Parts: sequence; structure tokens; C-alpha cells
Amino acid sequence: MSTIGVFDSGIGGLSVLNEALIQSPGHHYLYLADSANAPYGEKSTQWVTDRSLLMCSWLASHGCDAIVVACNTATAQAISLIRQELTHVPIIGVEPGIKPATLKSKSKMIGVLATQNTLISDKFKQLLASLISDCEFIQQAGNGLVPLIEKGILEGPQIEALLHQYIDPMLAQGADTIVLGCTHYPFLQASIQKLYGDHLDIIDTSQAIVRQMRRLIKDPNSQEVGSVNVYSTLDGAALLGLAQKLLGQADLHKASAHTVMI
Ligand code: DGL
Repeated sequence: MSTIGVFDSGIGGLSVLNEALIQSPGHHYLYLADSANAPYGEKSTQWVTDRSLLMCSWLASHGCDAIVVACNTATAQAISLIRQELTHVPIIGVEPGIKPATLKSKSKMIGVLATQNTLISDKFKQLLASLISDCEFIQQAGNGLVPLIEKGILEGPQIEALLHQYIDPMLAQGADTIVLGCTHYPFLQASIQKLYGDHLDIIDTSQAIVRQMRRLIKDPNSQEVGSVNVYSTLDGAALLGLAQKLLGQADLHKASAHTVMI
């Protein structure tokens, strides 16, 4: 069995951990949330880069054989440096699912909702440039969504007002598909579906990320009894409480919570 680190600025990476527990339960998972510093999406590039490296180094020094950077912002700004520094550990990153979106969209207009830092990154620009497609992308920063999601607010007037502000213009321009380019946003699927129903296909890449993780770990089909340890730089117990509420994963009910100073 492997020891797998999953890192995000906060609770967003839980959407990836959830999928990892479905596809590959027989491993030790260390989930690390930098809740004291979330959100990363509007911080300086240098800060996000340094901090993401520090968080992944912490996971590597706690025995992880593989690390999933379950944060689009950290991946966009720091994954090259993390891979350069932590050469002995496979590092799996995430990126907005614009390629799958091009296969889905009929109108050829695709909305991309991601953090400001993801959208301005060279990595995202390169991803867009590498695509051979006749689709157009409407890029929108989801400012204000992550702080609400961090508080466990996934529906209601505040969320709906921001979704209207960000998604209505996409629909007005003819978008039929939206890429959730931040691992926090899959927690808003129910609210997005409530507002936009059948008008919008939602692209979330958690399953593809975990398939990639399974390709890079030694024993993806381990049948051993796995475990989950949840670490937060703010409040481990609060993070685990939220994780249990949001995910309803049996494995999370046996998980241990820790608050760490990093
Ligand atoms: N979950 C993150 C992402 O995928 C980070 C959001 C944030 O901290 O702003 O981009």
C-alpha cells in the first residue's frame, strides 16, 4: 500500500480525496489543508509558489510516496518547482478540464470558472494555446466563492448571487458547458444545477486526476485496510467535521484530525 499526500489551500482537495477513496481505498491518505491561509487564489505568485512547496515538502517528510496537488492554483503556479525539489516523489497536479469540455460542448462556447491566479498563470495560458479546437473560452475568476465554501456555505443567497454574477454572462454569450477549474467548486454542483439545470454541462476533473494518481502509484489496487489523517494549519477537528458533513465517506468517519503549525 502507498502513503499518499493530498494538498489544497483548504477543503477543495476533499473533492479529489473523495474520488481517491472511491477508486483506491487501500492506502494511507494524509490530507493537508492550509486553512490558515486560504484562499490562495488572489495571493501573489511568489507567495503561492513558496507556500505550496513548503506544504508538499511537509507531506514528503511525513512519508508520502506520492503527492496530489489537489489545487489548480498551486498546480498552476508551483508544480514545476515542487517537481524540481521533490524528485523522489511522483507529484500529480490538476488543471481545468478544458480538453474534455471541447468534446462535450455543442455550442463551442465554454465557460471556465477558476481562481484569478489560475487564469493569469503561464501554465493555464499554455494549456489554452496547446488546444487544437474551434471552441471559445469565456474565462471568469470566481472571487469570493472560496471563502464561503471554506465556511461550509454551499447554497443560499450569497452563493447564488455570485453564481449569477459569474455564470449568467457565460450563458448570455451562448455557453453550454462550464469547466470547474478550482477544486473547491465541485461542492457547488447542486447550486449550479439548481440555477441552470439542463442548460449547462458541468466539467469536473476529479475522476481523471485520480486515474492519473493510480497510474503513478506502485500498487493502485491494494486491498489492504487504508486510513485517512486530516491535517489543517488552522483547526484539524473543524476540517474533519466539515469533510464528514460534505462527503459522507465511511473512511472519513474513522479518520483522525490534527492541527499543525507549518
Ligand atoms: N482549491 C483551489 C484551486 O483549485 C484553491 C482555491 C483558493 O485557495 O483560492 O484553485
